[in-house]
Amino acid sequence: MALIEKISAEEVLDSRGIPTLKATAYLQDGNFGTASVPAGISTGTHEAFELRDADESRYGGLGVQKAIANVNGEISKILSGVEASDQRKIDNALNKLDGTGTKRRLGANTTLSVSLAVAVAEAKRGRLQLYEYLRKNVLGESNETYELPLLMTNVIEGGRHVDKGLDFQEFLVIPRGFQFFSEGYENIKKLIKSLEELAKQKKHDRSLGIEGGLALNLKSNEEAITLIKEAIDASGLSKERFAIALDVAANSVFKDGQYHVLDFEFPLGREEYYKFLTGLCKKHNLFSVEDPFEEDNWYAWTDFTKQVQSATLVIGDDLTTTNLARLETAISRNSLTGVIVKPNQIGTLTETLDFIKRAKEAGLKIVVSHRSGETQDNFISDLAVAVNAQFIKIGSPLQKERYSKFKRLLEIEKQLNKN
Ligand code: PGA
Ligand code: ZN
Repeated sequence: MALIEKISAEEVLDSRGIPTLKATAYLQDGNFGTASVPAGISTGTHEAFELRDADESRYGGLGVQKAIANVNGEISKILSGVEASDQRKIDNALNKLDGTGTKRRLGANTTLSVSLAVAVAEAKRGRLQLYEYLRKNVLGESNETYELPLLMTNVIEGGRHVDKGLDFQEFLVIPRGFQFFSEGYENIKKLIKSLEELAKQKKHDRSLGIEGGLALNLKSNEEAITLIKEAIDASGLSKERFAIALDVAANSVFKDGQYHVLDFEFPLGREEYYKFLTGLCKKHNLFSVEDPFEEDNWYAWTDFTKQVQSATLVIGDDLTTTNLARLETAISRNSLTGVIVKPNQIGTLTETLDFIKRAKEAGLKIVVSHRSGETQDNFISDLAVAVNAQFIKIGSPLQKERYSKFKRLLEIEKQLNKN
């Protein structure tokens, strides 16, 4: 048992050079824990509120000095003297102090940094690995079988994550059927290399997207899928070992009632777009599609999920935003078969875990995910293992803020194999 002494926060820069918060929770017994929070670009409307300074003279208004003042001031004050192992009490206190239901006053970035930092400090105090602490102490589960998630690796990037390029946000590859996470990782690295060489050979203009995926100037989204297939063939690795997936992030292709995709010279109506997407799933045997439709089009989601049935997973990100109420609607409408989990979409650890628990009960697949603006914080790697998430999305290992999460998973695998 240890009480919180104080919480403090400072401004650090994320992978895009934009400020974010790094919070430290100090316990009275001398232990402490830190956590830095990520931020998204293609954010859903239903995400909890992210507090920025809106002071144009610093980082174009994106500073987080107000959030830091909230941590160092009123949050530290109410949490000082609170038992650090009572995560729910801490998160409830944060929500109560905020008082808006959407973290509009304190900011979800603010509350999350505190919520996670306390968990990290308490795991350290108990001399537990973070994934063990989350499983045993926060979730209160006794199951000691930890499974490493499968990688959903962003190999080609587009949408709002690149200056110019494809309209679908992420073209992902899942290495599967390998006994160890480390083998999957090694093989995905080989595939990325093969893809880079192929793009070079074909003289495609290329740069890196915000998550480290290749940003390519191709003629259509389908061409990216074909290119990945060619790269798999060229790598000499077995085709069965790689599945291909998409994050359409459809909010960004949907405008004025129509869908704008490079694959067609004209905007598509709902029916045509629907046909195009279901056609892609079938033709390319897509493993999963994230955000196939815009965030409030429940009807289309349900229809699409029914249409692709068990052949392709339908994953909600902007639709569900790690929000329990949105998840309940999605479950009751059969709108999807998997969910993205991003702690910063909701703003506390226990709300994130409640969301995961409910999604699992409903038989949905869990994809723990980073954001496009990341630090080297690895919390989500431990989170994925703690809840036995089937998948994790941490971008491409070509970027250090993403690589640190791969590295943590490799480390966890080693520990688990030793035991
Ligand atoms: P974001 O993108 O972090 O920019 O929101 C990631 C995603 O949509 O999965
Ligand atoms: Zn997404």
